[in-house]
Amino acid sequence: MLKLTYLSHSSFLLDDGTHTVVIDPFLTGNPTAPLAVDSVKAQYVVLTHAHGDHLGDALDIAEKQNALIIAVNELANYASEKGVNAHNMHIGGAYNFPFGRVKFTIAHHGSSSPEGLYMGEPAGVVITMGGKTLYHCGDTGLFLDMQLIGERDHIDCMMAPIGDNFTMGIDDAVKAVEFVKPGLAIPIHYNTFPVIAADPQVFAKKVEAQGMQARVMEYGETLEL
Ligand code: NI
Ligand code: MN
Repeated sequence: MLKLTYLSHSSFLLDDGTHTVVIDPFLTGNPTAPLAVDSVKAQYVVLTHAHGDHLGDALDIAEKQNALIIAVNELANYASEKGVNAHNMHIGGAYNFPFGRVKFTIAHHGSSSPEGLYMGEPAGVVITMGGKTLYHCGDTGLFLDMQLIGERDHIDCMMAPIGDNFTMGIDDAVKAVEFVKPGLAIPIHYNTFPVIAADPQVFAKKVEAQGMQARVMEYGETLEL
């Protein structure tokens, strides 16, 4: 069993009844965030990259809740230098944590800290937890190697950015879902700011027209996988 709560933008809270993991916790300064950072309880923080709308409140959660940050080497080192616990990984590598397995994948994007420092490569992440495997694309353009991600692991749930401008737009995201063939596709990274306005129902309809399942999650909604 895995409970998935959508914290808006690219952020999710995962809860298997024992462990809690938050992905890209951007709450403070996020006009669509359904919860304040102090209401989000997490033991682990998985980061796809260091841009402010993904790093977000990660250091605050790690510091106040003694949570472990899991990220690519450069970003994990940055977190360590800020005085919080971090586990360094990199693209292509997987590691078994007490809650499950984390594997970082490629993502075509950038990654820099709030101070403008190079933070290594941006990533997507495949997380197996509570008997389910999720693929969170991070911020990325469409790439053919997504087919390999779907071949290496059966993906129960794929979180795909659809907001365009910085990432895939709707039509590229639909193609990404075709490549990965997940059990369920959830659109992310849209409508947080005017520049990434997109209609998630259009994405869902186009995915369903390809014979696959999609679900538009409300901000703060919890889904049991
Ligand atoms: Ni980004
Ligand atoms: Mn972003």
